[in-house]
Amino acid sequence: MTKKVDFLIIGSGIAGLFYALKVAKYGKVAIVTKKDVQSTNTQYAQGGIAAVMDSQDNFEKHINDTLIAGDGLCNNDAVKLVVENAPKLIQELIDIGTVFDIKQNGTFDLAKEGGHSEHRILHHRDITGKEIERALAEQVANNKNIEIFENHFAVDLITQHHLGYIVTSHMNEIECYGAYILDKKTDKIGKILSKITVLATGGIGNIYSVTTNPSIATGDGIAMAHRAKAIVENMEFVQFHPTSLFERETRPSFLITEALRGFGAVLKTPEGEEFMHKYDKRGSLAPRDIVARSIDNEIKTRGIEYVYLDATKTDKKGLTEHFPNIYKKCLSIGIDITKDFIPVVPAAHYLCGGIKTDLNAKTNINNLYAIGECASTGLHGANRLASNSLLEAIVFAKQAAEHSLSYFNKIKHQEKIPQWDSQGTSLPEEMILITQEYKELQQIMTNYVGIVRSNLRLERALNRLEIIYKETEELYRRSIPSQKICELRNAINVGYLVIKMAKRRRESRGLHFNIDYKFKLNYDCHRPDK
Ligand code: FAD
Ligand code: SIN
Repeated sequence: MTKKVDFLIIGSGIAGLFYALKVAKYGKVAIVTKKDVQSTNTQYAQGGIAAVMDSQDNFEKHINDTLIAGDGLCNNDAVKLVVENAPKLIQELIDIGTVFDIKQNGTFDLAKEGGHSEHRILHHRDITGKEIERALAEQVANNKNIEIFENHFAVDLITQHHLGYIVTSHMNEIECYGAYILDKKTDKIGKILSKITVLATGGIGNIYSVTTNPSIATGDGIAMAHRAKAIVENMEFVQFHPTSLFERETRPSFLITEALRGFGAVLKTPEGEEFMHKYDKRGSLAPRDIVARSIDNEIKTRGIEYVYLDATKTDKKGLTEHFPNIYKKCLSIGIDITKDFIPVVPAAHYLCGGIKTDLNAKTNINNLYAIGECASTGLHGANRLASNSLLEAIVFAKQAAEHSLSYFNKIKHQEKIPQWDSQGTSLPEEMILITQEYKELQQIMTNYVGIVRSNLRLERALNRLEIIYKETEELYRRSIPSQKICELRNAINVGYLVIKMAKRRRESRGLHFNIDYKFKLNYDCHRPDK
């Protein structure tokens, strides 16, 4: 396959679909997605999307909460841009058919999550992401200018490298011409040439053993961008969600939304005692990095597998009405959340860093944008404030759309791109090699580069990763590329970036907690409650 479009979007989550709808009026759009459209992190989002929506709240408060969470590393301009664009873009989501819960008096039912000083989370019961994805996907499906390629896997970005030039990260003018795409039905790699290419490939949760992310989250976009010499930053800031449902062998882990703690549920030891006040005076609603570390400490020092979340003291009717999905899921495994405690553990959840972009979502590579979770826009700094990521995705999708529309029709397709040159000749004869390497990667990352890190652990992680890196590169060279081998290679690449950046950061800050460096909150001065 060789195809030419104006806009190539890799990824069909909130970021990719929102961008597609913004540009489709002006040119031909292709959306490539490795499974079906809905197989995204977006589909799993529960709590909601943050925005200043009532008179109690204001932009300054949302900005300040975001900066406090970010622990001194946010880009103030990015924070301001996102917060101030939020109400307008929420209205756009509503205009295309997204339904957010409203109260009997007709105003939005705004929830509160950890780190937010006000109620400002718009939600659709406890399945907000599914509702947003539904509304966007319906619009996209009805748009004649948008062609969707499901079960197509992006293997690599096309740059001057594929014209035979040596491309280095110091080059001023790296250009992106599209991407090589594997059709999973035919196992053939074709190319989609584009004037503008947009990475909207989501997160990296699957480099860890326990994650809330579905299987698509293997960091492909970040690895592809890194190979193409895009700048990648802040990879050490991996957010662990404090409360995923403890279920052995279940992947992904089912999320128990933070909004449940916002609703009054509290964390307890197996003996039924509250423990969060030992760590932070905000208790169970402290920012999620603090809660995740505290749970990790309880689990490790007590030698237990999980702690409990107790929602039994909250209003029972409200509980089942607000959290029907969680109620149903827990009931399916014999836990009635109105009567029983919920066993929970932290799980890898969100990547704050990624492909570095400017305020227009542009990378350092010409004609290449990155939006959504794969991007590092400067909004989150060292730690993301809950429910800011769906918001970030739409704001930067809009920015990218406006910027790319201003010049895309001056770009000509690069016609000289060769067909994919597969050096390997055989399919990996033993899938066990791939699955075993993947498990090893997850163990290395979980044991040495998890919630609590140390210099020694990071060193060990790097040494061990080196071995599976070499073995996998060798396997990749011998193989005809398949999704599995490419994902493994990408995940190892991303794991390497996390370790390398974690080693480089000689301090504890935000989500990066290294016991060899004293932890200090870099935004203490902004904390009215400290
Ligand atoms: P995604 O929605 O993950 O989409 C990525 C897309 O890229 C997918 O279509 C995938 O198939 C495609 N893709 C990836 N690699 C390739 C490739 N090589 N080739 C082709 N296609 C590829 N955030 C909030 O703000 N509020 C919440 O309440 C919230 N709850 C969450 C709950 C859970 C359980 C999880 C996992 C996350 C939650 N988040 C929440 C985070 C938020 O959902 C994500 O950050 C956001 O949805 C990411 O959107 P995205 O468009 O960047 O990527
Ligand atoms: C949650 O619902 O707790 C997740 C919110 C988020 O990740 O922003």
